[in-house]
Amino acid sequence: MGTNRHVSVWHDRGVGRHSLFWRLFAAYAAVGAAAVTVLVLAPISVSVPTAPREIVVLLVGFAIALVVYLVVLARVLAPLERLTRLMQRIDPLTPGRRLDEVGGDAEVVALTEAFNEMLDRLETERRESALRAVAAQEAERRRIARELHDEIGQTLTGLALRSAAIARRAPPGIRTELEDMRNAARQGADDVRTIARALRPEVLDELGLRSALVALSRTLAERSGLVVERALDEDLALSAESELVIYRIAQEALTNVVRHAHASRVQIRLCGVGDGGVTLTVRDDGIGPPPDTVADATGIRGMRERALLVDGELSIRAALPRGTELRLWLPNPMRR
Ligand SMILES: Nc1ncnc2c1ncn2[C@@H]1O[C@H](COP(=O)(O)OP(=O)(O)OP(=O)(O)O)[C@@H](O)[C@H]1O
Ligand SMILES: [Mg+2]
Repeated sequence: MGTNRHVSVWHDRGVGRHSLFWRLFAAYAAVGAAAVTVLVLAPISVSVPTAPREIVVLLVGFAIALVVYLVVLARVLAPLERLTRLMQRIDPLTPGRRLDEVGGDAEVVALTEAFNEMLDRLETERRESALRAVAAQEAERRRIARELHDEIGQTLTGLALRSAAIARRAPPGIRTELEDMRNAARQGADDVRTIARALRPEVLDELGLRSALVALSRTLAERSGLVVERALDEDLALSAESELVIYRIAQEALTNVVRHAHASRVQIRLCGVGDGGVTLTVRDDGIGPPPDTVADATGIRGMRERALLVDGELSIRAALPRGTELRLWLPNPMRR
């Protein structure tokens, strides 16, 4: 696909433009012709053996030719340098940006086109492989959650029930120990259930995004002591894929607030915006956003990649008067 488009662009844009190859050739020929003309017309001759004065004249002529050639080369290659600087500014985590035409020769225009086409292909491939990776990760989480719940969870629940039954019949001396054992097994079963729930947000499938976010923020408030304020719109038109992206990003953002922000309050908002898009905002009153150097750490990078899956945009910035605001914007699903 790319090759054919590339060729047609080359022909279309090539008309009326000078090719880099011929401009360099012409510059070289012009400098050579000028040097020969000067040699022919100027009142100088080269004797054998060459006199020192003649060597000086030849060297000066050569230096002048070099300078002229250097100036011509710098002008001809300037668009290539501009193009290189633009290429270096392309950020793979901000897709959709393309190089503007920097002008110049047909080769530079063709290179710009080829680079833009390569970005198209890379972004498509990246999006598809990220989708596959996230799907595989979700499937794996579901499998681990199911096994934790069905295997270890059931075993621990069984152990709790059996130790409770034995404790009832046991002599008083060991009854307390058996009751401790039952409590430990019960606690273990609860922990396994909590871990399984975090791994597989079944409430998302069963009750929808709003309820899942309510459950998530409630658990977080109970565990961390943070005051969580919620403002969650209902009946937002979202695909299952977008709901999962929003849920996972909220999960990571809230975990980050608990782990890093030293905050006392966190606000989570989910609301529809003008043209059918949706924004999720997680805002805390803690120590403020991470410096740029850590902005690409695993958690934040994972959030950015998930956002890209649904053509969303994620920003993390300082909140006023203090703290951090994470904002995820998803476009109207119909316009994607
Ligand atoms: N709400 C926040 N307030 C202050 N600092 C934050 C906040 N969120 C993230 N950070 C900072 O950004 C860094 C990167 O966060 P990120 O989620 O990518 O990694 P992590 O939480 O340290 O590890 P991981 O998420 O991979 O377990 C954190 O180490 C922390 O310093
Ligand atoms: Mg994190």
